[in-house]
Amino acid sequence: MRILTGLQPSGKLHVGNYFGAMEPAVRLQEEGEAFYFIADYHAMTSSQNPVALRENVRELAIDFLACGLDPKRAVFFRQSAVPEVNELAWILSTVCPMGLLAKCHSYKDKVANGISPNHALFAYPVLMAADILLYDSNKVPVGKDQKQHLEVTRDLAVKLNETYGEGTAVLPEAIIRDDTAVVAGLDGQKMSKSYNNTLPIFGEEKPLKKLIMKIVSDSTPIEAPKPTEGSVILSLYKLFASDDAYATMITDHQNGGIGYGDFKKRLAEAYWDYFAPMRARRDEILADPGYVDQVLADGALRAREEAAKVLDRIRLAAGLR
Ligand code: ADP
Ligand code: TRP
Repeated sequence: MRILTGLQPSGKLHVGNYFGAMEPAVRLQEEGEAFYFIADYHAMTSSQNPVALRENVRELAIDFLACGLDPKRAVFFRQSAVPEVNELAWILSTVCPMGLLAKCHSYKDKVANGISPNHALFAYPVLMAADILLYDSNKVPVGKDQKQHLEVTRDLAVKLNETYGEGTAVLPEAIIRDDTAVVAGLDGQKMSKSYNNTLPIFGEEKPLKKLIMKIVSDSTPIEAPKPTEGSVILSLYKLFASDDAYATMITDHQNGGIGYGDFKKRLAEAYWDYFAPMRARRDEILADPGYVDQVLADGALRAREEAAKVLDRIRLAAGLR
């Protein structure tokens, strides 16, 4: 079974990204042949800044490896290191009706949010389909927001098979992570870099702990019992603390006598401890400057080898050879 997913390099990794994308991907690498890549071509659809792109790709690679991506198990590469994906995107474009792209929510949302639409933003789902079909992927773990893009991918795979014969493309299946609850941000909304409410997973201890002290809470006096429903502190604490520690925190809420400041301190400790192994791994990676480049270069070779096979099959079917 081949599992494939891509992550856009778009700034500092936060706790929402970790539990929503990274951690599930790291778990899944045990279950099949994993292909994980950094979607740098996709990042270019909304921002064209070479310095930031280079930096963000590197950061994401370091962070993903620090979070447990095992390059011996998973093929880890940068999307643009396999330029063959563009050829497949072109072939897919020729069987892709305009209407299929025009109805994509992600495109409409981005335009509504003020991104001036370029052709690549419109064609984003076609490149994503090419990412997936180029490796004969079976399972594609993604967040809910990518569900429609997976539907487009399946539509295009079916079109390719109708046009050029069964077996030209492998139909992928989405694994939608409905179960990973949305991680709440410091203000109680969904944690997202667009809301400026994120808690990064890597960084200096003091500023990070300070951020935690900013989490919204209500004005229940110290001595009074505190509500456990809808508490951002508790929802984050549950992610980091042991079951026992979480149960104690609930009881302490119910009994009263402890203020939110103390609960936040506990949260800050648990958060800091939780990411300690990842921080240590990150330091090791940083101490070996050639490591990340080597991993990505090896990954690109392996990915390209697979891509060449699939693309040859599709070229032949399409009459390009
Ligand atoms: P952001 O909302 O900060 O821009 P992205 O849209 O780049 O984050 O998301 C990257 C990945 O992280 C996606 O798979 C997405 O589903 C996941 N993710 C982002 N924020 C959260 C969150 N608050 N809770 C759970 N998963 C999240
Ligand atoms: N569009 C995805 C996102 O923003 C990233 C991505 C690009 C992707 N190509 C992919 C995810 C292929 C899965 C498969 O999250």
